[in-house]
Amino acid sequence: MSPREQNAIAAALIVAVLGSGCFIAAYFGGGDRLYEGLAMAVAAAGLCAAALGWAFWIVPPERVADEIETYPSSRGERAAERGEVRSDLRAVSRPRMLLGLLSAALGAFAAALIVPIRSLGPAPAGALFHTRWRKGSALVREDGSIVDVGSLNVDSAIAVFPSGAVGDAQSQAMLIRLPDGVADSVRGYVAYSRLCTHAGCPVALYRAAARQLLCPCHQSVFDVVAGGAVVSGPADHALPRLPIAVTGDGTLVALGDFPEPVGPGFWERS
Ligand code: FES
Repeated sequence: MSPREQNAIAAALIVAVLGSGCFIAAYFGGGDRLYEGLAMAVAAAGLCAAALGWAFWIVPPERVADEIETYPSSRGERAAERGEVRSDLRAVSRPRMLLGLLSAALGAFAAALIVPIRSLGPAPAGALFHTRWRKGSALVREDGSIVDVGSLNVDSAIAVFPSGAVGDAQSQAMLIRLPDGVADSVRGYVAYSRLCTHAGCPVALYRAAARQLLCPCHQSVFDVVAGGAVVSGPADHALPRLPIAVTGDGTLVALGDFPEPVGPGFWERS
């Protein structure tokens, strides 16, 4: 490889390093997509140009044909051949600067690819498996008012949240008051996760006549009396039931979190 060719490859690698550096700077400088895209394109182009030059100049494209030597070569010829091979190897390994630049370019490009992972936000931790319901959490309406044992008429339903987490999508639940004796209930109350187990829409409709919860998205129907079991529709998993109790002053509280993950995500991944 001639010095001119080496310089061309070095220039391409430097461009790749600069492109990756500009991408990282643009990312931390506010994340303008136009600049990030341009910088990444420059980095990729530099790497491609360097790779092409390297391959082209180290492995010349011309074809070389030679007669197969049918006689043993002389000692002198073998020595000359060895010298030629060593010389070729030196020619290949000589450009240490290029190898350093190649490492820098690849490292910077890898960093540019890894850095955006920060944008994925905090790890979900236990959010896939737990909601904000805790033992003793009062059931509150969307306006934050506490629900007590006299709040609902028979065969009516409302959306409830744990106190301190109003609006938390994962924790939303439907509280239904049933006539005494028709189901395993707490003073007539049962509560189920409001997240449909099909695709996560709010199961927001209560059909009192059939005592069923209906998801408006794809019409999955859940049986309130039978533990939230699926009656019809695309959902294939019962609604998780929230364990509840009534305190001495009549307030409805949770006895803990749902006994299983809510919504569809967990089931689709398992
Ligand atoms: S999201 Fe409820 S049925 Fe599809």
